[in-house]
Parts: sequence; C-alpha cells; structure tokens
Amino acid sequence: MRYSALTQRIDGDGAAAWRIHDRALELREQGVDVLLLSIGDPDFDTPLPIIHAAIDSLLAGDTHYSDVRGTRTLRSSIASRHQRRSGQLVDAENVIVLPGAQCAVYSVAQCLLDPGDEVIVAEPMYVTYEGVFGACGASVVPVAVHPENGFRVEPADVAALITAKTRVILLNSPNNPSGASLSLKSWQALAALCVRHDLWLISDEVYSDLLFEGEHISPASLPGMAERTATINSLSKSHAMTGWRVGWMIGPKPLAEHLMHLSLCMLFGLPDFVQNAAQVALDKDLPEVALMREEYRQRRDLVCARLSGCPGIRPIKPDGGMFVMVDVRQTGLGAQDFAERLLEGYGVSVLAGEAFGPSAAGHIRIGLVVDQARLADACQRIASCAAQLLQVRRA
Ligand SMILES: Cc1ncc(COP(=O)(O)O)c(C=O)c1O
Repeated sequence: MRYSALTQRIDGDGAAAWRIHDRALELREQGVDVLLLSIGDPDFDTPLPIIHAAIDSLLAGDTHYSDVRGTRTLRSSIASRHQRRSGQLVDAENVIVLPGAQCAVYSVAQCLLDPGDEVIVAEPMYVTYEGVFGACGASVVPVAVHPENGFRVEPADVAALITAKTRVILLNSPNNPSGASLSLKSWQALAALCVRHDLWLISDEVYSDLLFEGEHISPASLPGMAERTATINSLSKSHAMTGWRVGWMIGPKPLAEHLMHLSLCMLFGLPDFVQNAAQVALDKDLPEVALMREEYRQRRDLVCARLSGCPGIRPIKPDGGMFVMVDVRQTGLGAQDFAERLLEGYGVSVLAGEAFGPSAAGHIRIGLVVDQARLADACQRIASCAAQLLQVRRA
C-alpha cells in the first residue's frame, strides 16, 4: 500500500543510536548485569502529592473532555511561574498545555514552517528535531559547536548560516546531550539576529530547572523577543513525570490560538486528572523536587570527578541537564565502537555522540539516571575499558 511522503520525512529518529540501548535491554533480559545509562528518563518516582492529586481527581469524576488549551488555572500557574522566573509579562492566554515538550515543539513547528523553510539548530541536538521539522517539509541547518568550547553555541556561527529561507532558530539551553547553557551575552547577540532578520525563536527549556552553573535565561524576556519566541517546557525532567505527558508552550497570543486549533484537530486536550496533578506539581513547593535536583548535581560532580584524570578519556563538565559527555577520542576508537565495546565487555550502556550530530563525534553520553553507587561503578568500568584500549594501542 502507498503511504504519504510525510512517513519518510519522520522516520529518521536516530535509529542507529538506539541499537546500543536495545542491545542493553536484551542483555539485561538474559541476566547480564548492565548499567543502563543510555536513556534520559529520570530514575525517580513522581512525588507522591502529585500522584495523590491525580487519584483524587479521578475519584472526583474528572474523566470528561477538558478545555483544549489546558485548564485556565493550570495555564495561569504556568504563566505566573514563567513570569516570576523570567520577568516576561504573560498570562493564561499566552499559554497552551500540550502532552509534553515533544508535542509542543512539533505543534509549534507545524504552525511556523512551510515546505522549503530552513530552521537553524545547534548540533549536537536532541534526536527527534530532524523528524519534527522534516514533518513540515522544512530542513534543519545544523550549527556546529566545539567540545573545546564546552559545546557552547557561538552567535557568529549562527549568523553565518542565515539565508533568505531561514524562518526559525531553535536552541535548547541547557542542551541535550551536552548540558551546555547559553550566557546572557550570547542570548543578547542571538536575539539581535532574530530581530534583525525577522526570525522566530523556539526555545526548548526542558532542562531549565536542572541548571547548576549560572542563571537560566528565557530569551523571550529580551527586548523585541516576546512576539517572536515560543518558549517550551514540561514537567518531565524537573518532576520525574516523563510518563504523564505534561508540557506547554508560552508565546504570542496568536500563536497560542493557532496551537489550540491544531490541538483541536489532533488531541482534544489533556485529561483533567493529569492537569490537576500538574497543578499540584507547579503550585506546591515540593521538597522532593529540590532533592532530585540536588541529586542530579551530585551525580554530575561524581562522574566528572571520577573520570577526570583517567587515561584516554576526558569528561566535559555540563552546566546542567541529566547527562555528561565524555571525550573518548584518545582511546583510538570512534564513539559508537567504544560504546559497543563498553556494553559487550563491561556492561555499561551509553549513547554515542554522533547520534546527536557530528560536533559530538568521539564522545559518549552518560545519563545520570542511576544512583551514585551505581554511577561510581559505571565510571570504574568506563575507565577500565579506556585503559585496556590504550594498552592494546601501545602494544
Ligand atoms: C531537549 C529535549 N526536548 C524535549 C524533550 C521531550 O520532553 P517531554 O517529555 O516533555 O516531551 C526531551 C526529552 O528527552 C529533550 O531532551
């Protein structure tokens, strides 16, 4: 049977990268002791008050159609939280609630892009962006970054790629996979580019609550940016709620309205019991959330401390997020080969940087998604793998 051209544009999901993860699951099923550091799913459970709120809401009969845009109270909470943190003046009408940041990025792309448009995205990049923009018939124009510069985006490199076809710049700070964040100075330069060339900015801020160095900046708060920025965030990472599918877009009111129409065609809103649970997540200052954040910071510090100085490898300390990139180039193996050897020989599953873009070639991505004892064990195995490769190389 025949399928639409769209089906071909959305099938590039970094499938090769996930081969390692799938193999790790297979090994685990066979009883092999595998440390699974290849995914970005928090190992914490959702804090109990959020779960109770969902149960109470279900028992209260909140099982009907909901407001397609998201409940007004939830949108108001999202707006005031954003305003408090960024200084940007917004209200519930600027917000639409969608099932996760993933859906929000997809929906915004559908409302901003036409076939032939170009989207500038810094790589290494989150693997689904290519398919998301491909679905619109738009093409991704990658901006290279450099490990020597902590994978930070240089505004001049972005400027050099702007053409008459450029419609959107997408930036993700802190970044998946690199954990790099953008400084105020960089954001100001990037904002000036958007204004000068009349571009949209999609700011994917899903790791903003997990920033450990410096202050998170929402570029929508910079002069001239409110009317051209779609700010995307979710509860997935900050509140260990990946499976609940709660995310949102904050942007100009006409964009929020277009997204509402799209949601009407496609989703019909989020379940009210999920939104009522999200309300608790946003309104209550839950100690569990602060504890998880602190735990991620400690895990990052532990991995960087344990791996620095180990022959053949070099961790690049991230500003934030849930991952640490490690340069394995000195071992003489490419990152995919190193990751395969690490899994088969040492039982640690990580992703190869190449999956996220050529700038991350020769690096592996370690997910901070197991406790500190297990991470310490993983670091030891990674160091042994590198040491053994160096020995072979020197022999
Ligand atoms: C950069 C980035 N954006 C978006 C998402 C999707 O998040 P959500 O679970 O909110 O859809 C992820 C998930 O890993 C991510 O890393």
